[in-house]
Amino acid sequence: MRKFLVFATVAMLGGAAIAATAAATPSPAGADAIAVRKAAFKMSAVAFGTVKGAFERGADVKTLGFATSSIAGWAHTLPVAFPKGSEGAPSEALPNVWSDRAGFAKAAAAYATAADKLVAASKAGDKDGFAAALTETGAACGACHKVYKKPEPPRA
Ligand code: HEC
Repeated sequence: MRKFLVFATVAMLGGAAIAATAAATPSPAGADAIAVRKAAFKMSAVAFGTVKGAFERGADVKTLGFATSSIAGWAHTLPVAFPKGSEGAPSEALPNVWSDRAGFAKAAAAYATAADKLVAASKAGDKDGFAAALTETGAACGACHKVYKKPEPPRA
């Protein structure tokens, strides 16, 4: 249950860093929070890619319950991974994650709602619902990145 350890760590770091002041240079606890969330984002991208690939290869959606619930678990806890004091390099988060907290929370909530639909469709064995939820989840990643994450550098 490694994902629970990650979530617990994220929650603890969040608590520890709440007292830290906002700065362009992360506090020590903020630097830890950046490392933890980057690892979690990568794992969520792997989970999402794995689920999408399996679905496209015709996997029974009922077999994707654990993977989809890991995405939903992360989606629900995501804002906690951005405590004050965790802004600045090497983070790729834009300053509006902190200055527009309500908007960021809303983008995270849209992601969580979409991921919950993936879990529900998996449980129900609902292939069409699963396909729609996959699209909605992918769109929620992109919608948040567009506003709150530095754009990817062009690939060589
Ligand atoms: C609510 C906003 C939000 C949502 C939703 C979101 N992300 Fe992100 N994501 C971010 C932010 C902000 C960063 C930059 C984090 C940092 O560098 O501190 C990020 C970073 C990443 C990274 C780079 C991690 C690294 O190593 O630097 C990946 C990969 C990623 N996201 C994938 C995804 C995928 C896949 C989804 C959807 C399944 C998703 N994200 C949904 C905001 C979001």
